Amino acid sequence: MGQVGSSREPKDRVVLAYSGGLDTSVAIKWLQDNYDLEVIAVAVDIGQGGDLEEIKNKALRIGAVHSEVVNAKKTFAEKFIAPALKANALYERNYPLATALSRPLIAKVLVEIAQGTGAVYAAHGCTGKGNDQVRFEVTLRALNPDLTIIAPAREWDFTRESAIEYAQKHNIPIPITKQSPYSIDENIWGRSVECGILEDPWIEPPEDVFAMTVDPSKAPDKPTYLEVTFKEGMPVAINDEKMDLLTLIGKTNEVAGSNGFGRIDKIENRLVGIKSREIYEAPAALSLIMAHRELEDITLERDLAHLKYGIEQKYAELVYYGLWFSPLRESLDAFINEAQKVVNGTVRLKFYKGSCQVVGRKSPNSLYERTLATYEAGDTFARQAAAGFNKIWGLGLETWGRKYRK
Ligand code: ARG
Repeated sequence: MGQVGSSREPKDRVVLAYSGGLDTSVAIKWLQDNYDLEVIAVAVDIGQGGDLEEIKNKALRIGAVHSEVVNAKKTFAEKFIAPALKANALYERNYPLATALSRPLIAKVLVEIAQGTGAVYAAHGCTGKGNDQVRFEVTLRALNPDLTIIAPAREWDFTRESAIEYAQKHNIPIPITKQSPYSIDENIWGRSVECGILEDPWIEPPEDVFAMTVDPSKAPDKPTYLEVTFKEGMPVAINDEKMDLLTLIGKTNEVAGSNGFGRIDKIENRLVGIKSREIYEAPAALSLIMAHRELEDITLERDLAHLKYGIEQKYAELVYYGLWFSPLRESLDAFINEAQKVVNGTVRLKFYKGSCQVVGRKSPNSLYERTLATYEAGDTFARQAAAGFNKIWGLGLETWGRKYRK
């Protein structure tokens, strides 16, 4: 209208963590309308599946000035999953942290692309109620405190329904319908499903929730065995076939998932104080952690093994709480890596109709000595010394008992 020539001020840019889902699609339009920014949409491929080329083009159709897909699967496996596996990281006993591990990586990619494109804003599609907003923002600030963070889905007052209406009004294609309102997050380390009827913790998850695992009752009637070989705490081969970590995780997901193993129905404590109900599928994560733990059981000296349990819990918590890029994590990694030097060998897993069991283990670094353990001929354990050991070990309790017990 009143514009003279082409002297229009260039607009500021925002890098948006783009998934192609409802919230981040709506966010493209919303960031333009509410902040007058040029949107750079960034989809990070960590094995979530779907047509990422199509997602990239979709961002452009909605109005992004630039759209990029970054293949980070290998980095995700080697730099994020690998340390978590060595740490046997499970939040509140059983969540292998697939989503939690991916957020610092995605945020790191955003920081790099912001730097390359001169963006001064970074945006994500998380609401104000979850853990992921924390993970994104803590990482963004740790890696580049000069970026201004915008969280559209936290600012707007959309419900899921009104977001869908907004999308329909602005011709933004939506991947979900009002009849199937699950919120799903997926990558190679696992899959998470929330919302809809799952919000009632008494309701059993219907089969349509699951995608990485078959119904255990429909799994094969014969067990499948998998022999996982580790080198310094990292799985390097399956059934004697060497493969890189990314391939190995994929293969394990396939075998475990097709045997119906890897489902978790969980109530968890979010960082923001809410208890939520989540359905997870993590076939590879749960089986590889099980195998890794088993190898540690046979190779780690007792005191080290026991101390490591506490470290593992701390590790899982810091990942869950968004503190990946922290000196604490790096220091724990140093401790864990030192411990992994002897974690070499092979574990045999047996998958059968929804279960996974360790049924064999061997290691060149095994501390299991049959001549010490045996109840048969050839025993080398110094049993004569045991009586004296017991006497001294119990001396404190004996003294206490004599004084105080009636
Ligand atoms: N509760 C999990 C976490 O905080 C998963 C969150 C994302 N899940 C989802 N279905 N949108 O790591």
